[in-house]
Amino acid sequence: MPLHLVVGGFFGDEGKGKIVAYLAASQRPWAVARTGATNAGHTVVHRGRVYKLRAVPSGFVHPGARLYIARGALVDLEVLLSEARALGVLDRLRVDPQTGVITAEHVARERGDQHLMKGIGSTGTGVGAAMVDRVLRRLRLARDYPELKSLLADTQAELFEALDAGRLVLVEASQGYWLSLYHGTYPYVTSRDTTAAAALSELGLGPRDAWRITVVFKAYVTRVGGGPLPGELPHEKALELGWAEYGTVTGRPRRVAPFNMELAWRAVRANTATDIAVTKLDKLFPEARCARSWGQLPREARAWLEELEHKLGAPVSLVGTGEDTACTIDRSGELGLHPRR
Ligand code: GTP
Ligand code: IMP
Ligand code: MG
Repeated sequence: MPLHLVVGGFFGDEGKGKIVAYLAASQRPWAVARTGATNAGHTVVHRGRVYKLRAVPSGFVHPGARLYIARGALVDLEVLLSEARALGVLDRLRVDPQTGVITAEHVARERGDQHLMKGIGSTGTGVGAAMVDRVLRRLRLARDYPELKSLLADTQAELFEALDAGRLVLVEASQGYWLSLYHGTYPYVTSRDTTAAAALSELGLGPRDAWRITVVFKAYVTRVGGGPLPGELPHEKALELGWAEYGTVTGRPRRVAPFNMELAWRAVRANTATDIAVTKLDKLFPEARCARSWGQLPREARAWLEELEHKLGAPVSLVGTGEDTACTIDRSGELGLHPRR
């Protein structure tokens, strides 16, 4: 029952979208499932094309993959349907009847909330407001919307069946460990738990369903919105280092800091990671740009990754060396992390 879960280890935007797209293209999973909601934006560059995704799982790049939206997730119908139509994936998209639905009223409620928008720096996508309604048991679910009728499926039952038949399922979590409602830097967090355990729970799966748990770190730390960021660098320094980034959903500049071993260690432990993915290595070591094998990496880059493995107590299985999915080093095979189907 090979379930491979990919989660973020810092404050989101670690590059989970790229890692999941790479894994989907190379491992050809039977299904890819997404958790979370439209506050999370992934950028995927595959075969030279750039995709900005807010709802459709990044693993859509494998044409054979069924695309699942978790029942604990939330969808914004306009965002989901327009994205799925533009990508031509409506026929393989499956939404659980129990998935929550975000409405324009939720978006307006958040955007009018100064505490959320100015204090916390929310993305203002209505996710927190819809979560409030869900907790108060007045949120309408996917099963209440006729326009979703053809997409509805008992996603939990279908995933049970796939896993029990030994088919590979790739799960794409969103945000990162330190944005968790419970474990992050409260109140500067998102409105859900962002751990591996929570992603499984959103799908209706159990801890023992996970075969591989990959925690993704960027080669430096970024954060959008308010809250502590140890070692934060001024924006000018980020520009100078080539680390400046802008949010996929809001376009806001991302705050940046050097890689943080303490934050990373706790994320690895709390997620019970089997392995680690490190993205944007090319931003620390320009000679690593688009390297596709460990041997192509400069010596200092290899030494830095080995230090991470040693200090974090988990192997580095995947390394991102550029935006395109082709710019990836994959050591899954040599680490015994290729799925047996
Ligand atoms: P959330 O679900 O919002 O947490 O997002 P995410 O983890 O999918 O990350 P996002 O796509 O928002 O941000 C990562 C950025 O880094 C994107 O612009 C990617 O194109 C880029 N990126 C990912 N991997 C690499 C890499 O190895 N090298 C370079 N240069 N860019 C990368
Ligand atoms: P909200 O979840 O949109 O209310 O935002 C709460 C906090 O989490 C803000 O600091 C956001 O910037 C941050 N956040 C939410 N989703 C993401 C994400 O996908 N990537 C990075 N930060 C996020
Ligand atoms: Mg993002």
